[in-house]
Amino acid sequence: MGFSLPLGFFFFGATVLWETVAACGYQSCPATKPDMLNVHLIPHTHDDVGWLKTVDQYFFGVRNDIQHAGVQYILDSVIPQLLADPSKRFIYVEVVFFARWWRLQTEDMRQAVRQLVAEGRLEFVNGGWCMNDEASVHYSAVIDQMSLGLQFLKETFGECGRPRVAWHIDPFGHSREQASLFAQMGYDGFFVGRIDYQDKAQREVLREMEQLWRASGSLNPPAADLFTGVLPNGYNPPMSLCWDQICSDNPIVDDDSDENNVKNIVAYFLGTAAAQAKHYRTNHIVMTMGSDFQYENALLWYKNMDKLIKHVNAQQLSGSRVNVLYSTPSCYLWELNKANLSWSVKYDDFFPYADGPHQFWTGYFTSRPALKRYERLSNNFLQVCNQLEVLAGARANLGPYGDANSSRLREAVGVAQHHDAVSGTAKQHVTNDYAKQLSAGWDACQTVISNALASISGNKENFMYCTYLNISVCPLTEASETFMVVVYNPLARAVGWNIRLPVNGTHYSVLAPGGQSVLNEVIPVSGFTQAVRRDRGGAINELVFQASVPPLGYTTYSVSRLHKKDPVRTRLLKRLQRQHETEQRSIQNEHLRVIFDSSTGLLKEIQNLDKSISLPVSQNFFWYNASTGDMENHQASGAYIFRPNNSEPFPIAKGAQAYHVKTQVVEEVYQNFSDWCSQVVRLYAGQPYVELEWTVGPIPIQDGLGKEIISRFETNLQTAGLFYTDSNGREILERRRDYRATWNLTQTEPVAGNYYPVNSRIYIKDKKVQLTVLTDRSQGGSSLFDGSLELMVHRRLLHDDERGVGEPLLEPGDYYNGLVVRGRHLILLDTTESSAQQHRLLAQQEFMAPQLVLAPGGGPPYLPGQDNLKQFSALHLALPSNVHLLTLAQWEPDSVLIRLEHQFERGESVNGSMPATVNLLSLFSSFNITSVQEMNLAANQKWEEMKRLIWQPAKGAAVWPSSDRSLDPTHIELQPMEIRTFLTHIQYQPKPGRGF
Ligand SMILES: *[C@@H]1O[C@H](CO)[C@@H](O)[C@H](O)[C@H]1NC(C)=O
Ligand SMILES: [Zn+2]
Repeated sequence: MGFSLPLGFFFFGATVLWETVAACGYQSCPATKPDMLNVHLIPHTHDDVGWLKTVDQYFFGVRNDIQHAGVQYILDSVIPQLLADPSKRFIYVEVVFFARWWRLQTEDMRQAVRQLVAEGRLEFVNGGWCMNDEASVHYSAVIDQMSLGLQFLKETFGECGRPRVAWHIDPFGHSREQASLFAQMGYDGFFVGRIDYQDKAQREVLREMEQLWRASGSLNPPAADLFTGVLPNGYNPPMSLCWDQICSDNPIVDDDSDENNVKNIVAYFLGTAAAQAKHYRTNHIVMTMGSDFQYENALLWYKNMDKLIKHVNAQQLSGSRVNVLYSTPSCYLWELNKANLSWSVKYDDFFPYADGPHQFWTGYFTSRPALKRYERLSNNFLQVCNQLEVLAGARANLGPYGDANSSRLREAVGVAQHHDAVSGTAKQHVTNDYAKQLSAGWDACQTVISNALASISGNKENFMYCTYLNISVCPLTEASETFMVVVYNPLARAVGWNIRLPVNGTHYSVLAPGGQSVLNEVIPVSGFTQAVRRDRGGAINELVFQASVPPLGYTTYSVSRLHKKDPVRTRLLKRLQRQHETEQRSIQNEHLRVIFDSSTGLLKEIQNLDKSISLPVSQNFFWYNASTGDMENHQASGAYIFRPNNSEPFPIAKGAQAYHVKTQVVEEVYQNFSDWCSQVVRLYAGQPYVELEWTVGPIPIQDGLGKEIISRFETNLQTAGLFYTDSNGREILERRRDYRATWNLTQTEPVAGNYYPVNSRIYIKDKKVQLTVLTDRSQGGSSLFDGSLELMVHRRLLHDDERGVGEPLLEPGDYYNGLVVRGRHLILLDTTESSAQQHRLLAQQEFMAPQLVLAPGGGPPYLPGQDNLKQFSALHLALPSNVHLLTLAQWEPDSVLIRLEHQFERGESVNGSMPATVNLLSLFSSFNITSVQEMNLAANQKWEEMKRLIWQPAKGAAVWPSSDRSLDPTHIELQPMEIRTFLTHIQYQPKPGRGF
């Protein structure tokens, strides 16, 4: 650290060829027979990062009464098998388990494993902390969890630990963004296990099981091109050939015995291989020899595969043209690449996934909505923690509040991305454990953030965190006469942010850092909120004001309760508490007016006053009656599967009882639909969106019916069957009702078969007007008739859907009477032309929202010259509004990881979609950057060394000339949707940062 380099350091001309590094990778692949059908046996285990058991229970083999599974024994058992025979191969996937195992090994064992990895006998594939879900994850957390796992492999095994192949054999459908991210992480190919049954049947016939996936509409090919193969049998072995101790298929008996079955098994195997080869294009096929938590006793598998290989290959002497071998996904991929074919190109995604006519896996898009929100919020908090760890340096980790770092939260958020975690498909006790691990991560990051704030501001306060603000619980603000509110903004542009704090007083003074008083209002805590929080808090009012926060920094507000008697204010509050009927039927701010129906109390119309747009919009909550199975098909709705028993949902109520609150900072309509469903419609002063804060639950089930709750918007927009959903929070995909881009769909479920993942937004539009709904977590959504859109917000079900979790989705909630969920939908009404500009910025503000840190007392006075005390920005200048500071994090061993992202798609916004340029060296005021190395997206390979396999697209697909990119850190160009990743060294300024 702390060296300075000549300018020339930044320009890398030389290219290092990975081939020369070691005998791992494609060089270590087994020999194949070009004139035969080569069957690649892939010994593998699929180790869920929590599902029926917790991560720790799976690792150690605890609770084998639930499921026999112990990951430690798998690695213990496989390694000696590999050491004993150089021809044997094994792949390992989930780094959270491997890293755990590695820490417990002796140096001798580690050395032996390093050797296996160096020779390609033990190969890592995928290599993320977990195998993440694709339907309910946000790209920010996916990049982080992949980087975390890959970083471990890089540190531990160097270049030979770098996976060449992405491997998502179990996630329930595949997003296009995931493929794009994998391509940008340098993967050569991708294998998946689950695609729609109709899609698969057609691909088998057309031999399109393997394709080139062009996974971005903005990035120039081949940047987001990813060779993608659909595995023949999910991730399981062919029928009757499962030789794990948990299987009951016969072993191969080749001794002199009545049980000798060699002839039969060889004949069966040859038949199976020939049938499979018909669906694939080359003389190479794969068989996945393993499954969930297999290889705890690896000898059984290997001994039988040894015999299989021996007896099948022995047939070659009598003319068989089939050659079986131990292999890995990358060695199979290598053969496909060498085949030098041109591959058809896929542009859409693999959603929704159905494994039968009434079996759409679209329920998990919404399942466990509270965990889905907690995961998103935790990633938000992690980014803040990461940033402050960099901005304060070592003093964030060792400080007055204790020793802590961000890794606990980073690992917990990584685990939460698993395809049974954030997806909502784990058992309840496992879900509780995910939340518990996240919570422990929050504790550590709170210490980090307190240390960092004390260090940056030079002022140690008794920092506190109120994590129940969404239900108006915060003991400090409720009880204190004076307190400080530190608002930290993780975005690299200034934001205005509405603060709502539970209080007991009726009058407050809020002072900005310079001593100016800030407009604020006091509003009674609603009955809805009191019903949710129950005995957890007693505040009677909420203090509301708008904070304005500089880029990558904070502003501190001082709040004091005033004891003056203000008859007007007191009367207003009294009236607000009573007011259940309102004479006024609309709310309004500078930009928008929202009109309600006077007889039903429902939303009726939204007007954009700036653009003179009026759109009739009605909104209401409905419930689908969950199927319990019927005559046609026994499939019930469950944690994975959404299957309503009728296409028509029932309104929870025909109308809402409403009352109205009008203040200078916010205007609201409180709508009560039933004793378990309510909503607040809000317009904050100056904000260009309508906020709908919905509260749903406990969903009643006394009538014996499972219920799936939606919020539905109806308009008169002519949408011609089209609607739009985001892919993991980034690019937007066009959806068409009852249609799939790649095959001729036979629609069997008119509702569930039209549901898609909504990670951050869904919209409908006509030529002029667009209605966009932003979500605060992942949900399922659709547009089931023209002009409408709907989002599923909550579900409570009485039956298991028989996909393994073995529990109905009956979340108990804090009081064991059913889960209550509260969330927000942000509505934008704008011209179709300028909507992207709005929803991109607003969605960014949602997933990287400002964080509040509180402290009792008035805090230090504002002192000119001591700028950081109350206000701080770590930037010299805000980033252009189309550029996002995606990552600012400490990175091992002594680097800082920085990602800059162009957050617009090509052509979606006149201004936003323009290329952007950033001077990285003059961006930060808190530190100097002394060296810069551009990396691939996962930061595990130098950018200039990323040489992916080249795949030829079939005729018709556009090809771009490859562009050479040199790195000039003073002039970093970003094209639409481009993310650039930099590993830097930094040197702190004598006085960190500056006041803003
Ligand atoms: C706030 O006021 C409510 C209602 O009077 C009361 O129950 C609660 O204890 C008060 N909270 C504090 C901290 O004084
Ligand atoms: Zn799995």
